[in-house]
Amino acid sequence: MTLWSGRTGGVRLDPAVAAFLRGDDAELLPYDCEGTRLHASRLRAAGILTEQEHAEVERRLTEIAERGEAALGVEDEDVHSAIERLLGPVGRKIHAGRSRNDQVVTAFRLYVRDACGEASEAIGDFARVLLGRAEAEAETVMPGYTHLQRAQPVTVGHHLLAWVEMLDRDRARFAFAREQAEPVPLGAGALAGSTLALPAPPGQARNSLDAVADRDFATDYLYAAAVLFGHLSRIGEELCLWASAEFGFARLPASAAAGSSMMPQKLNPDVAELARGKAGTAIGRLAGLLATVKGIPLAYDLDLQEDKPPVFAARRDVRLALGALAVLARDLELDRDRLAAAAADPLLRATDAAEALVRSGVPFRDAHERVAAEVREGTFAAEGDAAASAAARLAPGPGGVREAIAEARRRFAS
Ligand code: ARG
Repeated sequence: MTLWSGRTGGVRLDPAVAAFLRGDDAELLPYDCEGTRLHASRLRAAGILTEQEHAEVERRLTEIAERGEAALGVEDEDVHSAIERLLGPVGRKIHAGRSRNDQVVTAFRLYVRDACGEASEAIGDFARVLLGRAEAEAETVMPGYTHLQRAQPVTVGHHLLAWVEMLDRDRARFAFAREQAEPVPLGAGALAGSTLALPAPPGQARNSLDAVADRDFATDYLYAAAVLFGHLSRIGEELCLWASAEFGFARLPASAAAGSSMMPQKLNPDVAELARGKAGTAIGRLAGLLATVKGIPLAYDLDLQEDKPPVFAARRDVRLALGALAVLARDLELDRDRLAAAAADPLLRATDAAEALVRSGVPFRDAHERVAAEVREGTFAAEGDAAASAAARLAPGPGGVREAIAEARRRFAS
């Protein structure tokens, strides 16, 4: 039986229609219990629920949340209908002054709030692994690249710190989405409130039409996830390159690599590849939800039921990808000799040579042309070595890599 069967005099929906309309929203269950708890306290304050009824709602909600998704039936239109049914006789009172329109977005905001917190924690865990590796490799030299051509010597520590910076901005994006998810739509009812004098929930959304129609917090979350996956994809791509025989900078650990079903010798960077592959999916989820919401009139339309599956899937991918990448980064074996040999390429110090001429008063363009001519003629001979070159440039700042690591550690301590 649907919540609105009174309207059709009990005539049942065709099963094909019911199957199409059913919400894929079981993951929302604990959050809808939390929202319903909040609504029940409003009903109690207004005297619509007695003290005993309120206690009964509380007791049953705890039970429902404990049973979890197993409590849901295939007959229910969505998780909200299921919870009303599972509340038993007192469930017939719970929907006073609320609609599924303000109910669903209340629960969904709570869900996104948690998903953002979870993402920030997983990002922090991954970043701390990278910082541990950066510390151990603070002086390990490697070639820095532009255009995927060897450019200047850097340290592995410096390179890993670049990844950490990307992740720190990702944390900020999830923190923003979390903030955007804060307003509480309860009280908006279907679209325009209710004649029942219920107290406003704390942090109530300002406009009832916007409260039931707005999904910006969900697109903010999917945007944060899409940008994060853009970063994980770039990191994944670099790990794939490093682990190739052509680069030979790293060996894949057995804890985070996959073999081939046919070729006995293979060990593949599956974690890095799937992280890269999932970036496309993450971008698609954002584009999909933006397209879903763009043309729908205020206030609520069932198009909005499409908001949840992409967010559920993104949350899962964010958690799993960061967890697996953290293991790969932790266990990856770097080949310091190969890194050092690649960084020792004297051409990587051509810029240093031009800058040495600048120090003795040569205009930079002349110095550039002079060194370029030596490179062309094969007579260029570099001074010093890769480690001295990397150290002399002090990148990324006056204190060099070690200070930068310590500073990043402070940021990621919380
Ligand atoms: N399952 C719906 C959703 O996910 C809940 C709200 C349904 N409201 C309605 N008037 N049919 O958005």
